[in-house]
Amino acid sequence: MNVVHVKEERREAFERAFLGRDSHVHKADGFAGFELLRRDESDEYVVLSRWNDAASYEAWRDGDLFKKSHRHAEGELAEGSEVRTYAVIDSRVPA
Ligand code: HEM
Repeated sequence: MNVVHVKEERREAFERAFLGRDSHVHKADGFAGFELLRRDESDEYVVLSRWNDAASYEAWRDGDLFKKSHRHAEGELAEGSEVRTYAVIDSRVPA
């Protein structure tokens, strides 16, 4: 997850940048899903991406598809960025 903080006046532009984007991440090997989450009553967003394994995530992060998805994002919209990586220990989906 990439945790970012977005000032009130930039929130609309930040959300629009996601909703209107040309998405590329779905083309990456090992990609398993994406969600953009806005924390209730907070300026915090979590860009959550799921990957089949750490190597797939790292290859995407260091490659051209990541660059293509961040052409417009260079520090204009968000303040600070904290990347947190987690291993999935257990997971269920509805039957
Ligand atoms: C300061 C750093 C960052 C900012 C401000 C930022 C912001 C954004 C924005 C505004 C978009 C929408 C696309 C666009 O406008 O071009 C985007 C896409 C995305 N970002 Fe970031 N991002 C940052 C770093 C990261 C990092 C480090 C990760 C992962 C660890 C990440 C994960 C993603 C993903 C998965 C997408 C969707 C890409 C797609 O659909 O192809 N971002 N980001």
